Amino acid sequence: MSSTSQPTVSPWRVPLSDLLVDEELLEAARETLASGWWSMGPRVAALEEEFSALCETDHALAVANGTAALHIALLAVGCGPGDEVVLPSLNFVAAANTIVHTGATPVFCDVRGERDLNLDPVDLAAAVTDRTRAVVLLHYGGFPCAVEPVLELCRARGIAVVEDAAHAVGATHEGRPCGSLGDVGCFSFFSNKNLPVGEGGMLVAHDEELAQRMRLLRSHGMTTLTWDRHRGHAAGYDVLVPGFNYRLDEQRAALASVQLRRLADRNAARGEHARRYRALLDSREGIVVPFEDDEAASYHLAVVVLPESVSRDDVRGRLAQEGIQTSVHYPPIHEFTAFAAGRQRALPRTEALGRRILTLPLYPHMTTEQVDLVAEALLGALKRSGAAAD
Ligand SMILES: Cc1ncc(COP(=O)(O)O)c(C=O)c1O
Repeated sequence: MSSTSQPTVSPWRVPLSDLLVDEELLEAARETLASGWWSMGPRVAALEEEFSALCETDHALAVANGTAALHIALLAVGCGPGDEVVLPSLNFVAAANTIVHTGATPVFCDVRGERDLNLDPVDLAAAVTDRTRAVVLLHYGGFPCAVEPVLELCRARGIAVVEDAAHAVGATHEGRPCGSLGDVGCFSFFSNKNLPVGEGGMLVAHDEELAQRMRLLRSHGMTTLTWDRHRGHAAGYDVLVPGFNYRLDEQRAALASVQLRRLADRNAARGEHARRYRALLDSREGIVVPFEDDEAASYHLAVVVLPESVSRDDVRGRLAQEGIQTSVHYPPIHEFTAFAAGRQRALPRTEALGRRILTLPLYPHMTTEQVDLVAEALLGALKRSGAAAD
């Protein structure tokens, strides 16, 4: 933490996530405002270059948020009415919503189990049909999904692979950056993410044609941008496809570039806290800490799986009384009202885990004392909840 860094004001003793605001960020925002050019321009272009270097892809396109990234990616790989897209139900709802908005149908698959909350490739294979146009895989909590079986299946059947890499900025799998493993990678810069900006997102891809389709969809399908015309590089434009305004603005790009420079250190700090949680909690009071310690993870979320016998609401209530904020990532998507009427498959592990998972506070500038406090409070709450259940 620099001497001027300030954690934000929180009503919690230990919030779920937290931001640091410092002079460098304030200066980046000030400088951008003073420049007089606020919509997509040179700072967005610089961020895209930095991001394609991080992800080792030829193309990176900044967008308004992670949901916009998913929407564009799905359209660009050809999803539309009559198609199916397979994705894990244990995910944030954005991917499923955007699938519906392309006209395609989401088909949910199961996760591997309590030690691995990423998709189960065997169940994925069972979910694929002749109508499957794409798979959206998630790197849950920043733990890289083992993509090899997914890629093998999808390549053999001409199915596109979109990575929901919202949790996985800076993570790698077998030395290759998450987001660069399939056809398109989608990132989010929402405030609680590892690269927090407020709103914002990024698309990455290797393929030039795909990138060009996504570029058009990002900005109304227009062949030139306001910035091109401002610089005298173009005078008019054509519209090639009906697109959106999913552009990122200069202020957010400037903040993202600052945050990107800090990403590796911050992911490492998250990793240290997560390792401490694991050491303090795994296999105690019936807790399972999913995944294995992995240097290549981005440690977006600190998730634990509670024993079946306790009430999660009760545990959360006890932690809240001690000033500790918790969350659930995620209620399974297929159980939401908007998705319950769709094609239902048996998802026994997702349904069981959806009732047992609990997300603990995790952010880079947490103190060791805070991690210990959360762990002790959780163990205490489980002892009392278990006793109450007896
Ligand atoms: C896994 C996942 N996918 C997609 C999104 C959507 O990103 P955004 O909030 O930037 O639209 C989020 C974040 O909220 C997310 O956690």
